[in-house]
Amino acid sequence: MSRDDQGMKKGLTNYGDAEFSLFLRKAFIKGMGYSDDALNRPIVGIADTSSGYNACHANVPDLIEAVKRGVMLAGALPVPFPTISIHESFAHPTSMFLRNLMSMDTEELLRAQPMDAAVLIGGCDKTVPAQLMGAASADIPSVQLVTGPMLTGSHRGERVGACTDCRRFWARYRAEEIDDQEIAEVNSSLVPGAGTCGVMGTASTMALVVEALGMMVPGGATAPAVSADRRRIAEDSGRIAAGLAGSALRPSSIMTPAAFRNALTVLHAIGGSTNAVVHLAAMAGRLGIPFDLGEFDKIGRDVPVLVDLKPSGSNYMTDLHDAGGLAPILRELGDLIDLDCMTITGRTLGEELGAAPDAWTQKIVARRAEPLYPQGGMAVLRGNLAPDGAIIKQSAATPDLLRHKGRAVVFRSLEDLAQRIDDPDLDVTADDVIVLQNAGPKGAPGMPEAGYIPIPRKLARQGVKDMVRISDARMSGTASGTIVLHVAPESAVGGPLALVEDGDEIELDVENRSLTLNVPEDVLTQRRETFTSPALPSARRGYKALFLERVLQADRGCDFDFLVEPAKDDET
Ligand code: FES
Ligand code: MG
Repeated sequence: MSRDDQGMKKGLTNYGDAEFSLFLRKAFIKGMGYSDDALNRPIVGIADTSSGYNACHANVPDLIEAVKRGVMLAGALPVPFPTISIHESFAHPTSMFLRNLMSMDTEELLRAQPMDAAVLIGGCDKTVPAQLMGAASADIPSVQLVTGPMLTGSHRGERVGACTDCRRFWARYRAEEIDDQEIAEVNSSLVPGAGTCGVMGTASTMALVVEALGMMVPGGATAPAVSADRRRIAEDSGRIAAGLAGSALRPSSIMTPAAFRNALTVLHAIGGSTNAVVHLAAMAGRLGIPFDLGEFDKIGRDVPVLVDLKPSGSNYMTDLHDAGGLAPILRELGDLIDLDCMTITGRTLGEELGAAPDAWTQKIVARRAEPLYPQGGMAVLRGNLAPDGAIIKQSAATPDLLRHKGRAVVFRSLEDLAQRIDDPDLDVTADDVIVLQNAGPKGAPGMPEAGYIPIPRKLARQGVKDMVRISDARMSGTASGTIVLHVAPESAVGGPLALVEDGDEIELDVENRSLTLNVPEDVLTQRRETFTSPALPSARRGYKALFLERVLQADRGCDFDFLVEPAKDDET
């Protein structure tokens, strides 16, 4: 080869003759009509996660065109490639079950194919953490691009959006407040087009948190999926990625402990999704950065909730974009943010914030002196029921229930819950505490978003809107209620949650961060000795077998044990 072939030489397939490997590679890529001039440039890979099953990514083909334009304007060669796409509603048993598979797919393709930098196009909840877990492990210069939030819909004159309103209308339907016709009408209005859920669900949360981490174009978190802004952000992502080719600004040098601290601060301030705690733990784990739930809780004691979006507040992502996106949030947080952290642009977070448009009067991001909620969105609970921690989204809970003692009403599994929750004879009152066991990472498996346990129908009909609910499951970021999640260790691996029986007294005290099972220790010891575990999921083959064997608990991000810690040179 007479030219130096820049990116094309990276990671040659091993035929035992490097020159021949390059010769073959070029023969095949030339089959797509590339000239030598095109191939003799840095290469920017573009991870394409479009899929006929993923409405949240319906604009990806459009974004790829804009990214390519940005890459070419900067003199590099864009090469899109497909990876797995995961949509929340089309991922059996759960999207969390598939997240690690997507992270492995992303990591291996970033490493296997020749590229000097990458633009990762994600959006729907698990896709962004999966891509950044993979990028952290491959440690190739990468820019995260998101598809952006969907617009809001309209139902009989009321503004609606997925999927806080999905849950609200479904709860009203269950309570027989609205009829079959109206629920069918709502169903057509909740998702009015391409893009991710328009409330502060996991997708919006991850977008803002990743911008705060420095892995995204400044201002890239909030532009609507179908806006011109979104395409310009995509073009800019391509341009920046081309500039990163060959640079030392790798994911490991941007996603530092200080950057994660910024991300956790923003997570509290936006009243973000509880799922983000699991994802950030997994992303940090990939870089060997310790993730301490206690530290997360401590940050939350000083960081108020500032963003008035559903489910903690009342607006939508498009409103936050119109209010300036992440910039006004960072400005309000001020000294709570480390502005010296480096970003993918080669400038610090502080320099980027200085270059953002000046603040204007708006009603979405509150002043720090007058927050929506005085503390962070989430609190970490501990106690004999959750020795390794549990999470509650206090900003979306009922204030009166944050300190509550009640009688446990226990469901052994998701099937048990489905069978009995609406039984008119169920012995339950509004003061009870509903407990769901065996819905954690291994128990269900895949830690489903089943933590949003429905209010028993007979109580819903009486107008009961919220109760204390506890599980080892997750909850959608779009849901609200006094709901304790991610109890670790989970019941399926012998966590104390497994020992709770009907009628036990459970005490929740969010102010003191405690979750206590008021049963004497000797009784618990006796229960432990005679405990027989219910039939748990098992698998003989395939990804499910791998998942059940190697998945870590929620406090470790539900990553696989063999993926934690950075790869060593001889492993890549
Ligand atoms: Fe994709 Fe909500 S379902 S972001
Ligand atoms: Mg979700």
